[in-house]
Amino acid sequence: MTTNMIALVTGANKGIGYATARQLGERGMTVLVGARDATRGRDAEGKLRGDGVDARFVSLDVTDEASCAAAAELVEREYGHLDVLVNNAGIVRADGSALPSETTVATLREVYETNVFGVVAVTNAFLPLLRNAPAARIVNVSSEVGSIAVMTDPQGALFALTSVPYPSSKTALNMTTAMYAKELRDTPIKVNAANPGYCATDFNHNSGFRTAEQGAEVSVHLATLPADGPSGQLWGFQMDAGGGYGVLPW
Ligand SMILES: NC(=O)c1ccc[n+]([C@@H]2O[C@H](COP(=O)([O-])OP(=O)(O)OC[C@H]3O[C@@H](n4cnc5c(N)ncnc54)[C@H](OP(=O)(O)O)[C@@H]3O)[C@@H](O)[C@H]2O)c1
Repeated sequence: MTTNMIALVTGANKGIGYATARQLGERGMTVLVGARDATRGRDAEGKLRGDGVDARFVSLDVTDEASCAAAAELVEREYGHLDVLVNNAGIVRADGSALPSETTVATLREVYETNVFGVVAVTNAFLPLLRNAPAARIVNVSSEVGSIAVMTDPQGALFALTSVPYPSSKTALNMTTAMYAKELRDTPIKVNAANPGYCATDFNHNSGFRTAEQGAEVSVHLATLPADGPSGQLWGFQMDAGGGYGVLPW
């Protein structure tokens, strides 16, 4: 089954992004496989096509505004609209023992370039195309470690974590999500943040207890919300609530 829907997933060459591309493709969408490395992107495109997904590699480094603009021009030229944008590309870095007092500004900048500035760059480059779609969905792949409420709960499972760069980048991403949702509240576009849960990928040397496919389910849910679905929420895996899916506190 094909739909005429076009989805772009950033960082789709592996991990949760790849699984998201596959699941959106299985729902009949044409999936644009955003990747910063052409070889890795084309390999992913080939694997997805082998599985019957209408996948197409799109060169996209989210930290490079010229790359974002070129990708948006390509999508404009070829399709004229974008139904789903999944801002999935993300990196994690820490200094020393991951204490605030050991954090370097260089590391903070590097993480924010991808996890925060990159999301704004990609979203703004594609917003005209998202507005051209009947009811676009934007999914920002965040994390429960970006939730100040979760991270400061003394009874919570994440209370021991102290790192600044990655968690605070996701906090900034959560606020970014909420503000885009506010700007777009009178349009059919919905903007939500996804919490995939701790998934085994290269990101964490495959130490996660969930699979990339399970993590992708969260992004796909938010990418396919019905017209009466929510906007401006952090939604996904709830570790402290016993592992179901639901809304997480900011
Ligand atoms: N895994 C988890 O437990 C977990 C939990 C919560 C949230 N998340 C979030 O889920 C998202 C995906 O993570 P993952 O676990 O799937 O990680 P991953 O396996 O390391 O994949 C990350 C993807 O992002 C891409 N990427 C990094 N920098 C990029 C850039 N500048 N431009 C374009 N693509 C870039 C990578 O491309 P290359 O192959 O070229 O490096 C790769 O495709 C991230 O936003 C992460 O923060 C993950």
